[in-house]
Amino acid sequence: MCAGDDNLSRVHLFIVHEMLINKINREELYDLFQVIKLQSRNAYISKDNEVKIEQIIAYLEVIHSELRKTSKKRPLVLIDSGAGNCYLSYLVYFFYANIEKRPVRIHCIDTNERLMKVNQELAQRLNFSGMHFHAADIDAYTANEKVDVVYSLHACDTATDKSIYLGLRSKAKVILSVSCCQHSLSMKSERLKAIFRHKAFRDKAIMMVSDSMRALLLEQCGYKVGIFDFVSSRYTEKNTMIRARRTELRRQLDIDKEYNVLQREFGVQPYLETLIAENTCDE
Ligand SMILES: C[S@@+](CC[C@H](N)C(=O)[O-])C[C@H]1O[C@@H](n2cnc3c(N)ncnc32)[C@H](O)[C@@H]1O
Repeated sequence: MCAGDDNLSRVHLFIVHEMLINKINREELYDLFQVIKLQSRNAYISKDNEVKIEQIIAYLEVIHSELRKTSKKRPLVLIDSGAGNCYLSYLVYFFYANIEKRPVRIHCIDTNERLMKVNQELAQRLNFSGMHFHAADIDAYTANEKVDVVYSLHACDTATDKSIYLGLRSKAKVILSVSCCQHSLSMKSERLKAIFRHKAFRDKAIMMVSDSMRALLLEQCGYKVGIFDFVSSRYTEKNTMIRARRTELRRQLDIDKEYNVLQREFGVQPYLETLIAENTCDE
């Protein structure tokens, strides 16, 4: 995109997302995007960054639809696992602290020490004192407070499972996950051989089957699960979100049965199954 197109792009972004970011906050948001390097000083937004911005605003909309009715008396506690550049968490923090004016703590976890250090310094510059950065494996992180949401966006491979499991371990009210590459999973099915022969279908099928199995595991642990496209596939083909809300529901027999059918048919075992089997849902 050239600088001249920039206003058009902004108009598009903010008409779509008008509900959350009103006119007054837009300039502040542009400033944020500049500091976190999603936008250059001369207001240039690269195609890659435009795509990222669409994803994080759409993700924030889902988070806020889960949290808008929660009590404002205590701080919100959120965990971003496999946070990377932490773009999503900067936006979420900005939204709650600066627009909603409510206390919020966000813990960003990533194995990449350099990224966590750089982001810690950036958060200090932004005065985002409620953002905390942990250079660690998601497995190694334990929350010692009530957690509202554990979320992940394109955490690689089994990091998605670890993130969902962190949500279970923390008894998070809501767990949100958008998976990325799934290198450790392979799938076979004699009956559907003609479909899996094609790589494009195989990738889609792995995503569908593994996320469906993760959904069943979450349901076994008492969560109510929905799976949907959180953003248009124009912005990423990895756009499928698992949303799980904690309930008091008991496990149902049908869930085990459905899970076993998928496992038998496709020979897939998401790492989440291993984590839950080793530790149970209520660790
Ligand atoms: C594709 S990036 C996504 C980053 C960010 N969520 C985003 O959407 O831009 C995946 C990130 O997950 C991190 N990661 C992978 N496995 C992890 C693990 N087991 N524990 C913590 N971080 C992990 C990587 O270091 C990387 O920064």
